[in-house]
Amino acid sequence: MIVLGIDTSCDDTGIAVVENGLTIRSNLVASQHTRHVRYGGIVPAVASRQHTLVINHMIKDALAEAEVTFADLDAIAVSSDQGLAPALAVGVATAKGLSLALDIPLLGVHHVEGHIYSNLMAFPDQLQYPFLCLTVAGGHTMMLLVEALGEYRLVGTSRDDSAGEAYDKVARRLGLGYPGGPVIDTAASDGDPTAFEFPRPMLKRGQMDFSYSGLKTAVNRLIGEYEANSTAIPVADICASFQRAVMDTLVTKTVWAVQKTGVSQVAVAGGVASNSSLRERLPDELPPGAEAFFPPRDLCIDNGAMIAGLAFHRLVAGERSGVELDSRPNAPLGSHEVKYKHESKYRRRTG
Ligand code: KG4
Ligand code: ZN
Repeated sequence: MIVLGIDTSCDDTGIAVVENGLTIRSNLVASQHTRHVRYGGIVPAVASRQHTLVINHMIKDALAEAEVTFADLDAIAVSSDQGLAPALAVGVATAKGLSLALDIPLLGVHHVEGHIYSNLMAFPDQLQYPFLCLTVAGGHTMMLLVEALGEYRLVGTSRDDSAGEAYDKVARRLGLGYPGGPVIDTAASDGDPTAFEFPRPMLKRGQMDFSYSGLKTAVNRLIGEYEANSTAIPVADICASFQRAVMDTLVTKTVWAVQKTGVSQVAVAGGVASNSSLRERLPDELPPGAEAFFPPRDLCIDNGAMIAGLAFHRLVAGERSGVELDSRPNAPLGSHEVKYKHESKYRRRTG
């Protein structure tokens, strides 16, 4: 079964062609980062306009790269749940039009579930249910117990900002541009991670939730002190110390989740899964016998392959969406309806 996957949940347009849920025939991502950089965060109306401008070209390119035509497609999959409403709407409308015109099935899926599935796509023979999934992106930070595809239990979630959001806000404050994760990750490699002792919120034993707004505020305060004194801001040291604080909490809570659940496989998903420090530290710091899985970076960022791959399993099980498919920016996750973030908080990403 050949599925066209569409993801326009946020600021990347992801279009992919995937065969039987695993074989990626093409996976194209058009980043809009340069469009949002001047705002220091994502502006939903700008995101939606950019998706509209590029999406049809990308579909043509993705089909060409996969060496298939519209006639070879068996179904259209789209991220319809979780994301920015105006951005999701572009993918959903495009997917509905294609499904109608080609007379092939349509399926809307949950964007975060796509991120989780990226691990099953990368490690189909290794991951066994139940496994833990640390899913860390711009829109959420969660520890999930994955009991089966579609069955998730929440172990911990961020009470305020997501980890990716903290990276983006700190980078913005330092004038490093958007998105903050990759620039801070790079800048941190030249800095001293022990230069500043930033807070590690929610690190009392047994607290499985995350919190990043206090850390962000502490970094802001420190930068403000340098500005008030008109002294040069030690950017690399701040980045390294901030990154260490974020990673201390992510790694510690992952270790606790392994100990609490007795589950030894930990898959990491979402944009922050690209982070070099997390990739280095987590495998080393997990308890003996536990193992960390990181998908390749092109499957960690928002992409259409994870959406087409996930949809394949649902389509085989007979699931379909109708032409009334709508976007649900704050849809809960999976059959247990895991709720993890409120719309007001998601919107604050642009603030
Ligand atoms: O999964 P994603 O592409 O989009 C969402 O669903 O949110 O994640 C984007 C987030 C951004 O906040 C970005 O700053 C962060 O992932 N990110 C990183 C790195 N690369 C991307 N954070 C830390 N280190 C990185 N290397
Ligand atoms: Zn995402």
